[in-house]
Amino acid sequence: MDLIKDIDILSGEEAQAVDYKTTSDENTGKTKKLYIESYGCQMNFSDSEIVASIMKENGFDTTSDFNQADVVFLNTCSIREKAEQTVRNRLNHFNAVKKHKPEMTIGVLGCMAERLKEKLLEEEKIVDVVVGPDAYRDLPNLVNAAEDGRKGVNTFLSREETYADIAPVRLNSNGVTAFISIMRGCDNMCSFCVVPFTRGRERSRDPHSIVAEAQDLFAKGYREVTLLGQNVDSYKWSPEENNKARLNKKEEEVSTVVNFANLLEMVAQVSPLLRVRFSTSHPKDITDEVLFTMKKYDNICKYIHLPVQSGNSRVLELMNRTYDRDWYLDRVRAIREILGQECGISSDMIAGFCSETEEEHQDTLTLMDIVKYDFSYMFYYSERPGTLAAKKYEDDIPLDIKKRRLAEIIEKQNQLSFERNKLDLGKEQIILVEGTSKKSDTEFKGRNSANKVVIIPSQGVKLGDYVKVKITDCTPATLFGQIVEINPAMA
Ligand code: SAH
Ligand code: SF4
Ligand code: F3S
Repeated sequence: MDLIKDIDILSGEEAQAVDYKTTSDENTGKTKKLYIESYGCQMNFSDSEIVASIMKENGFDTTSDFNQADVVFLNTCSIREKAEQTVRNRLNHFNAVKKHKPEMTIGVLGCMAERLKEKLLEEEKIVDVVVGPDAYRDLPNLVNAAEDGRKGVNTFLSREETYADIAPVRLNSNGVTAFISIMRGCDNMCSFCVVPFTRGRERSRDPHSIVAEAQDLFAKGYREVTLLGQNVDSYKWSPEENNKARLNKKEEEVSTVVNFANLLEMVAQVSPLLRVRFSTSHPKDITDEVLFTMKKYDNICKYIHLPVQSGNSRVLELMNRTYDRDWYLDRVRAIREILGQECGISSDMIAGFCSETEEEHQDTLTLMDIVKYDFSYMFYYSERPGTLAAKKYEDDIPLDIKKRRLAEIIEKQNQLSFERNKLDLGKEQIILVEGTSKKSDTEFKGRNSANKVVIIPSQGVKLGDYVKVKITDCTPATLFGQIVEINPAMA
């Protein structure tokens, strides 16, 4: 999974830029106000919805204005150095606010909290509470203690916590699309990556609570859910392996192991009018069973985020990705064979990993040409303290070379995105309308099954409508369509 931005083609510097989301204004008559600023991946944004829910139970409404807030949380990301630096700068900014409002409580949550623990309290004097991703149930206690002048840290990582019983407060919701966390943590240990250290061990959430959440969203008018995890294809739930206390309740309902393909099918069966997406798939364990399940259900979107990171097998081995170039290309071949050319495929790419040669960098470009990605998130390597790569390999590619290689990757992706978008010209596709276009309020935007943004005239259309469109024009980033039929019959 990756940073979710409004998809636009990025230049080199922008690709490394750090975006955040804030809470919106909510007024349900609670006495106190909470402001959350969330950085990083969609898991973090989804966690902020759990945090808002926990705080709501404890007397807080959310606000979009930190000046009005009694409590300010930064839900942070550690994935690249720049992500952490951005949060440090934000803390300086809040320092100025807190001078006028000393009673305001400031908390750092998420991956930076987990990585730096007590050190954050020492280094950033304005911080009152530091809470890791598995300890959010403890937030009300820690905030109460902070209000009495006692600072607190809880960075306990759990083997069981999935927050399955907490109904997230949907923040920044368009009322049409929502995210559902299905698993937490990561057991993969890619050598460049800090996530296994900040998010702990992999654990899967009870499938019944996932289906119930999808049913509830559908009943409230939502029409698309994205199942989230660092590595969704290794989702696995079995009654025996999970919390014994919960086992007693669920024993009759689930007697066999549920894998990701089974879960996908269970969610797809909620309604043919509920679209299902998922992210992220690790190339090592996306199975044909998952691909056939996607094929079987029209409402499972034909789009796979399959991060390759590098197109060279030696570099992939150093990265500890556990697959090589051939394995990856074989998975792409399976996707094309089972789901056809129209299935969207996107990737994440890292330029300038330790010891990467020019030829090895070229392998990334040639792999991109073979796969023809619709879109990619592209970065240059940023060494993270404590990771295997930081311990074992030298970060020896100079920054200007990393940036030049990244620019080449981005240029290649722009060409490929344009090429792929042009293939859609003249085709009829069904999109789900999810918002107004950034550029004009007489236009709506939606996405097609392959996850491409399509802009259409807004006349006669409402948010949450399915619209059959004919694609008439495109840029590398966006498709433009004419309306053929609003809410066509769907199986
Ligand atoms: N679980 C997902 C990735 C999560 S992190 C997966 O395995 O695909 C999102 C992306 O950030 C990664 O895919 C990788 O491309 C990038 N990334 C992670 N660590 C990085 C680092 N140290 N430097 C640069 N990019 C990094
Ligand atoms: Fe990081 Fe690898 Fe896990 Fe993805 S699969 S979160 S890149 S360790
Ligand atoms: Fe996500 Fe960043 Fe943590 S990408 S898992 S918030 S390090």
